[in-house]
Amino acid sequence: EKTIGILTGGGDCPGLNAVIRAVVRKGITAYRYRFRGILKGWKGMMECDWEPLGLEEISGILPKGGTILGTSRTNPFKEEDGGEIVVDNMRRMKLDALVAIGGEDTLGVANKLASMSVPIVGVPKTIDNDLNGTDYTFGFDTAVNIVTEAIDRIHTTAESHNRVMVIEVMGRHSGWIALHAGLAGGADMILIPEQKYTIQEIVSTIRKRHERGKDFSIVVVAEGAQLVSELVAHAVEEGTSYETRVTVLGHLQRGGTPTAFDRVLGTRFGIAAIDLVHAGDFGKMVSLQGNEIVAIPLAEAVNQLKLVDQELYDLATVFFG
Ligand code: F6P
Repeated sequence: EKTIGILTGGGDCPGLNAVIRAVVRKGITAYRYRFRGILKGWKGMMECDWEPLGLEEISGILPKGGTILGTSRTNPFKEEDGGEIVVDNMRRMKLDALVAIGGEDTLGVANKLASMSVPIVGVPKTIDNDLNGTDYTFGFDTAVNIVTEAIDRIHTTAESHNRVMVIEVMGRHSGWIALHAGLAGGADMILIPEQKYTIQEIVSTIRKRHERGKDFSIVVVAEGAQLVSELVAHAVEEGTSYETRVTVLGHLQRGGTPTAFDRVLGTRFGIAAIDLVHAGDFGKMVSLQGNEIVAIPLAEAVNQLKLVDQELYDLATVFFG
């Protein structure tokens, strides 16, 4: 009987529990594996902190946000002999293989461990959707839906008060959430890290809109955009004399139940990951390409970020101003 470890690392993300459930369910029923749930990501691997994970533990977790295993931003390779400690602890916890669910940092650790011959499989996770090698990550659709609903709500108050509402959304390195939710919510301008803007450009876009009779505006700003939301709001108020407010959506974008899309994607990823373990095909990450789940080398996922499509951004600019 083989023993498999499973962990979730980095920021939490809606759909993590769907992946855990799928991995454990198929692993037990099809392959007769035994599971150890490693607690708080790589921190648990450093400290041999785990709990048994059986059918009982995964029951009812599909619609739950967060991760039942807990998470942390611990990176063993930032600690002395961290890699060796993890390799040692694999033996100590009697793990035959490890499934690591996480973003760039977590999968970067997985990639280094794979090169140290650790039998490991990765599952991509981030609400930001900026992981290379996969068309979508689970969590993104949920975040986009939450932000779209927030934009709709802010619309009615913007309209009532004739205000410019600046909405800051997550995305440190990429504007996927800002662009998709901005398009879905009918934003009048979207600022993302991939693009450069000048204050004059933003002010004149809002002014133009007001000149054609629209006395409120919605500006969506990704947190990683080169001009931060407070500065944008201040500049717009100065430049147009329209009253302006800022809403920072923050961690609300990561909390709560995943959408049906993210539950299905997480489930498909989980099944594919445990199939890779069974096939002994290690050092890989599952990914969505088109509508197919495929396996790619972990190294491909962590060597660069996936930035937003220029084409989609250009399309969004049709609706600016
Ligand atoms: O990567 C996911 C993410 O939610 C980013 O969009 C955001 O910048 C970051 O995590 C926030 O991190 P923390 O939860 O540590 O504040």
